[in-house]
Amino acid sequence: MGLQGEKTAEWFARARASLVNGVSSQFRYWGDDDTLVIERGEGAYVYDMDGNRYIDYQCGFGPVVLGHGHPVVAQAVAEAAAAGTTFAMTTAREVEAAERFRTAVPWVDALRFTNTGTEATMHAIRLARGYTGRDVILKFEGQYHGVHDYVMFSTAGAPPTALGARYRPVPWQSSSGIPDAIRAFIRTLPFNDLDLVERLFRSEGHSIAAIIVEPMLGNAFGIMPEDGYLEGLRRICDEYGTVLIFDEVKTGFRIALGGAQEQFGVTPDLGTFAKSMGNGFPVAAIAGRGEVIEAWGKGGIAQAGTYSGNGVAVAAASATIDVLSTGEPYARMEKLGTTLMEGLGRICADRGVTAHLVGVPSMFAPVFSEEPPRDFRDAAHHNEELYEEVVAGMIHRGVMPVDDALEPWFLCAALSDEDVATTLAAFDEALAEATG
Ligand SMILES: Cc1ncc(COP(=O)(O)O)c(C=O)c1O
Repeated sequence: MGLQGEKTAEWFARARASLVNGVSSQFRYWGDDDTLVIERGEGAYVYDMDGNRYIDYQCGFGPVVLGHGHPVVAQAVAEAAAAGTTFAMTTAREVEAAERFRTAVPWVDALRFTNTGTEATMHAIRLARGYTGRDVILKFEGQYHGVHDYVMFSTAGAPPTALGARYRPVPWQSSSGIPDAIRAFIRTLPFNDLDLVERLFRSEGHSIAAIIVEPMLGNAFGIMPEDGYLEGLRRICDEYGTVLIFDEVKTGFRIALGGAQEQFGVTPDLGTFAKSMGNGFPVAAIAGRGEVIEAWGKGGIAQAGTYSGNGVAVAAASATIDVLSTGEPYARMEKLGTTLMEGLGRICADRGVTAHLVGVPSMFAPVFSEEPPRDFRDAAHHNEELYEEVVAGMIHRGVMPVDDALEPWFLCAALSDEDVATTLAAFDEALAEATG
């Protein structure tokens, strides 16, 4: 049974007539009968064109940390829009947003705004290359850093069997249209295995400009770094003069106000932020400390963007950071997310299904596998069919986790105790149906 009601199907037909596959981003296409068209969002809910309401755990793949249409953000954005948004000059709103950012993320000395996570990682990588005078980048399997050519290797779409041996991984190209020559500048490794990183650096560490890492795997279940892993990456970068980039596009302003640095106690040289910084508005930042971020100021390493720091985006960022800075949204997501994680775990145990709840309360995934995953290769051992069946059953019951098993569930602070109870009941019924 498809997900589209009558009106949604009509709108999707219209969407298909003008948008390729009816979507503006490939991950939104769920098939001809299942791709929804959304009328609006309100707090923790989204409504499709037929008026069906869903408790939303996609939250736009993470950004909507306060809930849809949050009044404080909406008001700030409306005021900024009315005051003009794009001047090709620095604005007071931009300065205020940057100051708030630095207060929230205290390891950061300076930043520049941009619009998307893709732009942020592209600029961070160029800055690292310009600063070090080296070309090669190390990234980890199952991590996604946006759609530019330099990082579209061994992303979460890769078949684990195509990744080669653990000790000698083959970077798997995630798209056609990327020049073959780019492959020479990328190294890929499984996450959470420091020995492999040390081995690679012993052979070519002095050619590696940057390690770019999602501190927890926001595009593969929410797998956590093992004790000492991020510290080890920091130590290796220091030893070889390599720039450590935390890609915090998913973790930033979500897992803690100060992001992964606050959560894990390890400080990178550069961080890329987006998503939860603007509660759904397109705002991102490349932030850093010391000589690395100062390299931009010395000239010669290009960074630009017509819309970077535009009024609406930075107003959204300031308003979102203000609300997040009260601490209340984090307390709420911690409490409700913990209830959900524990509840889902209990339901699986009661129904005799082996599952692991991976991640943190604001961003986690139930993984149907015998062992808890520690890297992306372990994804090969999870029961994807069961997950997809359960999620389909939940969506039919008005609860919408991401339908892709690798993508974590994202919470927003607008979620209520009742929503959590509804979610657990829907999960229980859907699991019973799928396993019965
Ligand atoms: C960790 C990470 N980095 C970068 C990106 C790219 O961000 P955007 O989609 O805004 O270009 C994403 C998108 O999901 C992401 O999860």
